[in-house]
Amino acid sequence: MSLLDPRSHPADGAVLASDDTPDWERYLDHASTSSPKAPGVIERFVGVIERVGASPGRSVHRLGRAAAELVERSRVRVARFFGCPSPAGVIFTAGATSALNLATKGLLRAGDHVVVTSYDHNSALRPLMRLRGNGVRVTIVRRADAGADFVDAVIGEVRPATRLVVINHASNVLGCVLPYEPIVKAVHARGALVLLDTAQTAGLISIDLLRSPVDLLVFSGHKALLGPPGVGGLIVRDLRLPLEPLIDGGTGHVSEDLEPVPTLPNSFEAGTGNAPAISALEPALDFVEQAGVQLAEHAAALRRRCVARLAALPGVQVLDLPDRPSVPVVSFRVAGMSPQRVAATLDERFGIQVRAGLHCAPLVHEAFGTATAGGTVRASFGYGNTDRSGELLCDAMETICGSK
Ligand SMILES: Cc1ncc(COP(=O)(O)O)c(C=O)c1O
Repeated sequence: MSLLDPRSHPADGAVLASDDTPDWERYLDHASTSSPKAPGVIERFVGVIERVGASPGRSVHRLGRAAAELVERSRVRVARFFGCPSPAGVIFTAGATSALNLATKGLLRAGDHVVVTSYDHNSALRPLMRLRGNGVRVTIVRRADAGADFVDAVIGEVRPATRLVVINHASNVLGCVLPYEPIVKAVHARGALVLLDTAQTAGLISIDLLRSPVDLLVFSGHKALLGPPGVGGLIVRDLRLPLEPLIDGGTGHVSEDLEPVPTLPNSFEAGTGNAPAISALEPALDFVEQAGVQLAEHAAALRRRCVARLAALPGVQVLDLPDRPSVPVVSFRVAGMSPQRVAATLDERFGIQVRAGLHCAPLVHEAFGTATAGGTVRASFGYGNTDRSGELLCDAMETICGSK
């Protein structure tokens, strides 16, 4: 029996029946995390634990050097993927949440002003709310559009004290892609920096720092990049940026110095690194680079068909900005039924897994009028979904709406 077989783990028996095999066609929660992962990811992850095992960046012994080499190879791969001028600017973190905390708390000081929008995730908003208690001034641009007026509204909030503008590349609630390029130009002209959260877009939309030079880029390794959980990162384009680490500790470098000057990337990765997950990003990025465009087009077509079919159902309201490009996320509500009940019914009666609620982005719901009564039902498509995935969802919703 394989180690990955749930039957070999007694504790898992409570969650998965012995004959359960995941039905990827019905897993529609890729915006939370992708399942399955890219080919080669599990093998690399397990292989690093089984055959390397050692802590990266600490030792001259063979296995320690092998672990460090795998981490550095992934760093170079990530830098190339995002067009980052120097691999030293790639800081590995546990995910986009840790990276957003590092970027904002590591950069902003009392007296600084930061602009953020209602499209942002709590992973960006909550660190800023904490910073507000420490004298950082925060402006939240609340909008229910995402075109030229949105761009103007964001730029209009930039003032001399503005240090940073935070933009979510795509909403994890609506899927709409936000136009960050014109914002970058205007914000730079005013002497401030831009942080782009690509948690929902990396792997689906090409992002090139050489072409669109955001200063700080956050990515999540386990969503559309198809890597394992426990890895993401912050990319710092200019290595001279005065960023402070949030966690101090052993880095395996200049150990004699108790108060070292922060150096990229080591000082920002204190503690034993997650070599298996970081290394497994390499096959993930190889696959995404090869198949990503096709996957993204397929998922986009699935989304389009679902939006059209769901919107035609009686009592269903689809939240959509039809004029904007979108990642494959569909949010909807059903009159007279809570999103939680819809999601539970889809799971229990049809085996379809979607998410219900505010999706950790409460201000989007305030802006679009779905904050009360439980938010929305969110279906999000990705690798492993077929045309049938969309049909199964829409057929199930037809039945649910018909039998309400
Ligand atoms: C826009 C956005 N930012 C940040 C995050 C946090 O990502 P992670 O799970 O990698 O911490 C998410 C997760 O859903 C997200 O959608």
